Amino acid sequence: MITKTNGAAIYGVDAKIIQIEVSIVQGMNLYVVGLPDNAIKESQHRIESVLKHIKCEMPRQRVIVNLAPADIKKEGASYDLPIALSILKASHQHPLFDLDKYMILGELSLDGFLRPIKGVLPIAIAARNVGIQGFILPQENAQEAAIVDNINVIPVRHITDAIQFLSNTKSIDPVKIDIQELIHKPVDQYDLDFADVQGQEDVKRALEIAAAGGHNLVMVGPPGAGKTMLAKRISSILPPLTIDEALETTKIYSVAGKLSTGQLMVSRPFRSPHHTISDVALVGGGTNPQPGEISLAHNGVLFLDELPEFMRSVLEVMRQPLEERKVTVSRAKVSIEFPANFMLIASMNPCPCGYYNHPTKSCVCPNGAVQKYLNKVSGPLLDRIDLHIQVTPVSYDAISTKKRAECSKNIQERVVKAREIQTQRFRNFKNIHTNAMMSSNMVKDMCEISKTGNLLIKNAMERLGLSARAYSRILKVSRTIADLAGVENITEEHIAEAIHYRSLDRSSWGI
Ligand SMILES: Nc1ncnc2c1ncn2[C@@H]1O[C@H](COP(=O)(O)OP(=O)(O)O)[C@@H](O)[C@H]1O
Ligand SMILES: [Mg+2]
Ligand SMILES: [Zn+2]
Repeated sequence: MITKTNGAAIYGVDAKIIQIEVSIVQGMNLYVVGLPDNAIKESQHRIESVLKHIKCEMPRQRVIVNLAPADIKKEGASYDLPIALSILKASHQHPLFDLDKYMILGELSLDGFLRPIKGVLPIAIAARNVGIQGFILPQENAQEAAIVDNINVIPVRHITDAIQFLSNTKSIDPVKIDIQELIHKPVDQYDLDFADVQGQEDVKRALEIAAAGGHNLVMVGPPGAGKTMLAKRISSILPPLTIDEALETTKIYSVAGKLSTGQLMVSRPFRSPHHTISDVALVGGGTNPQPGEISLAHNGVLFLDELPEFMRSVLEVMRQPLEERKVTVSRAKVSIEFPANFMLIASMNPCPCGYYNHPTKSCVCPNGAVQKYLNKVSGPLLDRIDLHIQVTPVSYDAISTKKRAECSKNIQERVVKAREIQTQRFRNFKNIHTNAMMSSNMVKDMCEISKTGNLLIKNAMERLGLSARAYSRILKVSRTIADLAGVENITEEHIAEAIHYRSLDRSSWGI
């Protein structure tokens, strides 16, 4: 007898359906064919132990397990459960009806209990898309799979639950969750609020512009100026996640095995990797390719605190993803893509001692050290950062005031309005949602400025020694400033403000 059921393999952040066929013929031993890795080959030992434990047996004939299609590499222990069930059915030990109509996955412990697996969300989506009616999986993963509609999610704790369910001797209620309710949870989700930050109006303004246009931003200032405090609050003014964005981001966490509660990611991710991070951990990759920090920040914020402390090679590998908003990891035969559409917020001291240009303390760095420090990150990376903002510490009196500053919710409302204008502007462009994402050709069309405006930029570029590449950055940011003001035409006032945010381009900076 040949039995069929369905499993899945993860490819990047998507799943491919794998057909699992088991046939029992004359001979001895169990064979797994169809590009299995070692973990799958080892499953026969786990299965043997489990079958014994539940008073069944491994057939004393040849068991052939075929995983199809054969050209996809299959990894991990999640095929334990479907293979074990298929063997029980093929050897007539249990009837197990409709095995072929289910997606079945789960790693078995030696006594038959199930261990959770990774990537359940993309698997549930793939299964639903090919019309599979039910998904039998470890209980810990059930909530996550239930995010997907139109598929019955059957949670099991032990292999006997699955056997009884498929033999119609036990009913198990499918797990249901209300995705609308999850996503529209009252927005008290951000405990960090800009109302906690006293003063710093100009920095907050720059962060508002960054949030409104999706621009990358770097803050430069001495230790204790509040850079980290400000950066941590940026998610609170970004527009709420849409359901599609929430699903996209959750898929990445699912594949990375980082969904702690197995639930939907309802707020924008904020990732702040330490500066000792490796290339692979930042951008993703490895032998079994995993998403890196930049993908975990998808649809949210990647915060690189103390930017010059990061290894130069690490900053270099980020350049391409910053441009393409995805990472491509190449392996022998395939290349896998991870989405990486994030907003980069960076912070840095102005010099090694930290006090260059400080209002009260003096810098003790030797001549040339300031420029050298800046050069550690200059060039291609800074090139992709639209806004540079100097952060100077606020006085003790200002910090100790009891008065609360403007709350994040108000700022977020303005950001959302500016984003609505952009949604309208880019409605005919598939992958462009914000001003920051415009190509240089689009900048020409959508950031029209008057002759005097152009002259203003030209003069500023000459006077401040701005590089040519700063030009389109200035135009994009001017566009966002105009959008925040709710006006169609970019005025000289908008341009002047945008020029102000290019301080790191100046040949001599910090002025
Ligand atoms: N503008 C401010 N309003 C309120 N507290 C502030 C402000 N600036 C600094 N602080 C306090 O100083 C601490 C240090 O700031 P931090 O963000 O770590 O500085 P930086 O990252 O620039 O070194 C903050 O955690 C906060 O308690
Ligand atoms: Mg800091
Ligand atoms: Zn210094």
